[in-house]
Amino acid sequence: DWTPNAFVQETVDDLKAKLGDDKVVLGLSGGVDSSVAAMLLHKAIGKNLYCIFVNNGLLRKNEFTEVLEQYKGMGLNVKGVDASARFLDALAGLSDPEKKRKAIGNAFIEVFDQEANLIEDVKWLAQGTIYPDVIESVSATGGPSATIKSHHNVGGLPDYMKLKIVEPLRALFKDEVRRVGASMGMDKDLLGRHPFPGPGLAIRILGDITAEKVQILQDVDAVFINGLRDAGLYDKVWQAGAILLPVNSVGVMGDERTYEKCVALRAVESTDGMTADWVNLPYEFLQKTSNDIINKVKGVNRVVYDISSKPPATIEWE
Ligand code: XMP
Repeated sequence: DWTPNAFVQETVDDLKAKLGDDKVVLGLSGGVDSSVAAMLLHKAIGKNLYCIFVNNGLLRKNEFTEVLEQYKGMGLNVKGVDASARFLDALAGLSDPEKKRKAIGNAFIEVFDQEANLIEDVKWLAQGTIYPDVIESVSATGGPSATIKSHHNVGGLPDYMKLKIVEPLRALFKDEVRRVGASMGMDKDLLGRHPFPGPGLAIRILGDITAEKVQILQDVDAVFINGLRDAGLYDKVWQAGAILLPVNSVGVMGDERTYEKCVALRAVESTDGMTADWVNLPYEFLQKTSNDIINKVKGVNRVVYDISSKPPATIEWE
């Protein structure tokens, strides 16, 4: 029978045997999978695990600093790399969703390579790939969903990085990953985090990306997500976030007519992201959240709630 404790024991033993005194590099994303993979490797090889946490400037508000501190608190050998400007540059003028994904994927590989090359004699690349990623990437090479969206979680190593790959979570589902993390004593909030896409807020800002739009969306998203936490709703939702629409609409403030941005809120229930239902959030919660967003975030005068399920809609808007 599968138990998280036995899995940790076995995996740590296997990793020790396989890696010996080799150095391993791993990209942390702030998400559950890469964090749990890092903890397993840390248990097995300690300081020989070199973690790199890249700020692409498209993370949630304050996330880079807070999560970096959390990683350090866990004892991980982690380097934070703030590459926000580089990603914004790479995104300038792009509004096609797939072009934005590609630009972000390429910028990430460049930054990661540059950092990995600073680690002398590194032999392995560790990844937090889980079983559903394996399935999705198989279908992405030819299945019917191949051209819908390109995901960047799997594969994608440039040739000149001759690293061997180690993926300790490759056989696990998300809930098993969380149980493995819990059995290693990892923080509940970190393990309970909603999934967040690699391209981050870039695919929740419809159209082209600017620093100003990122900041507006970070502020809106923070009001929404903190509100979910305060209302005890965060753990009842599989994934939630806000979307900045490329639409201005008329509003009124005092005696003034406004013409400002509109945001959509999205919250879904799902088990694996392949299908999803919109969540029936309480009206009182939506009412308060809408007021808070419009009062606190300058430049937004309208909030709508997305009531579409997947399929036929997707979870993200891009
Ligand atoms: P969709 O929008 O396809 O999303 O219904 C399903 C799940 O995948 C996440 N997602 C991504 N994750 N890179 C990622 O790492 C991406 O390009 C990407 N696009 C969507 C999405 O947040 C949801 O959890």
